[in-house]
Amino acid sequence: MECHLCGGRGLILRGKKAYLCPVCRQQRLRQRILSLSQLTSQMRDYTFDRFDFRFYSPYIRDGSKGITYCESAKRAVEAAKAFVRDFLSGKAEEGLIITGAVGSGKTFLACCIANAVLEGGREVLFLVVPDFLDQIRASYDEEGGFTEQEILAMAKTVPLLVLDDLGAFIYSEWARQKIYSLLDYRLNHRLPVVVTTNVALEDLEELLGERTISRLIALCRPYRLLVEHDIRMIMRQEKEAGR
Ligand SMILES: Nc1ncnc2c1ncn2[C@@H]1O[C@H](COP(=O)(O)OP(=O)(O)OP(=O)(O)O)[C@@H](O)[C@H]1O
Ligand SMILES: [Mg+2]
Ligand SMILES: [Zn+2]
Repeated sequence: MECHLCGGRGLILRGKKAYLCPVCRQQRLRQRILSLSQLTSQMRDYTFDRFDFRFYSPYIRDGSKGITYCESAKRAVEAAKAFVRDFLSGKAEEGLIITGAVGSGKTFLACCIANAVLEGGREVLFLVVPDFLDQIRASYDEEGGFTEQEILAMAKTVPLLVLDDLGAFIYSEWARQKIYSLLDYRLNHRLPVVVTTNVALEDLEELLGERTISRLIALCRPYRLLVEHDIRMIMRQEKEAGR
């Protein structure tokens, strides 16, 4: 499809001067960010109908809440589906924060949400937080590339933002500031966020700081995915047993 503003040349001529076409530039920015943060083809397959509850024990109970691992997962999935319904009908403000150990299905569930939203024809940006921060850093020494402001603006304003792996490594003050301004903006503009983290909420505060956590709590309702064993491990064992 050709650009309606510049006819696909990427430039607009005004008198003797040529300007970069703002529509094309915006489009390129979008593609650039999507290609970096895009759901991989594997992640595109993580959908609600493929969410398997057998990894979540119907016997073992979550010490703090007294519900089984399976019930806890069911609550998270129900909340995720309800969120998608609300979002697609334009009334979601509150997102989710999904916590759980390594290999408990957090990214899987976040992808279910992202895919259902895409399926519904709405925009979503799926950011793997460590990669996203690297990307912003890279923008500093890249000439003619997109600026930090442009990259951040996209994450701030996209209708739905998924932050996968928040707190996956210790944050520098610089990184903390980026995450803070992102969440602050989205909170002020009532834009929802879906977050996954393998850091417990209590410990996340130490990593991200009080002001960020306070915003996160305001933006997202917490859910837990509890497993006895890393699902990757179970799948590996099943694969080997099947041979
Ligand atoms: N509910 C599920 N149903 C089917 N497969 C699942 C489910 N949860 C996870 N898996 C499988 O297990 C793998 C690991 O899950 P996932 O990446 O979601 O874990 P995670 O909690 O995000 O782990 P990490 O903390 O390392 O990021 C996935 O690639 C997927 O194949
Ligand atoms: Mg993950
Ligand atoms: Zn154009």
